[in-house]
Amino acid sequence: MNSPNQILPRQQVQNQFDHAASTYDNVAWLQRKMGDALLKLIAKADLSGTPIIDLGCGTGELLRKLESLGHEHLTGLDISEKMIDVAKEKTEQVTFLQADLESIPADDESYFGAVSNAAIQWCDPHVAAGEIHRVLQPSGFVFLNSFVSGTLSQWHDAFVSNGLESRVHPLAAPTEMEAAFQSAEFYPIAVQQFKETTSFRSIESMFASIKQLGATNAMASRSKRMSRSEYETLKQHFASMLEDRGRLELDFTWVQIVAKKD
Ligand SMILES: C[S@@+](CC[C@H](N)C(=O)[O-])C[C@H]1O[C@@H](n2cnc3c(N)ncnc32)[C@H](O)[C@@H]1O
Repeated sequence: MNSPNQILPRQQVQNQFDHAASTYDNVAWLQRKMGDALLKLIAKADLSGTPIIDLGCGTGELLRKLESLGHEHLTGLDISEKMIDVAKEKTEQVTFLQADLESIPADDESYFGAVSNAAIQWCDPHVAAGEIHRVLQPSGFVFLNSFVSGTLSQWHDAFVSNGLESRVHPLAAPTEMEAAFQSAEFYPIAVQQFKETTSFRSIESMFASIKQLGATNAMASRSKRMSRSEYETLKQHFASMLEDRGRLELDFTWVQIVAKKD
């Protein structure tokens, strides 16, 4: 699970989030909580009146809140057109870009602030950090949360302990995320690591939650669909866990990075 970053095909990521767009907000309580923590950090830095870009803006919760806090020069970028469609409904004056955050269609030094919540894990962190550095103005800030290795460890274990090849997409380790921002010459960098364990009372609710979040990608390091027998094996694995413990758990681990461009 901690193997070096392996990037999923962009089309696969885009399709997954296009499908999740209409259900995402119903299940994304953790992402909202993570985003609210970023908002508090943004409030401490003086970004008022400056151009800010949200990378992997999804359904626009952060942009909606930034707008209501009085920020006016906002851009939302996402690879999924359908996620952007939802974000457009919630915001009034945001400019949207449907694009890959590894290749931001903006001039160098276009933004003073970059924010990204729960999106960079789908990218090569070194490419993402370099690209964020490029579009930020000198003295500009980046505020981000990214899921890292350890996320969905129970799924990884379910495959491996049953002799199956893990389908859990390997995420970068926290140290790799930090190293990416260091090598992109961000300074200083503050990094904090967090973990949240979510509980489910049934296998169905756990499977559904993952699907509605668009996180099925996190279990799609192989493009082939899960076979019937793999699915049954996993179901049995989780059924006996449910019987033993009365609940199923999923771990989410993320790093929060605040960094400044010199
Ligand atoms: C888990 S959602 C997070 C959405 C939002 N930031 C939030 O806090 O709820 C991840 C988002 O990142 C987007 N995404 C994934 N890879 C991307 C990429 N390479 N470039 C741009 N957006 C990407 C997805 O389409 C999705 O909307």
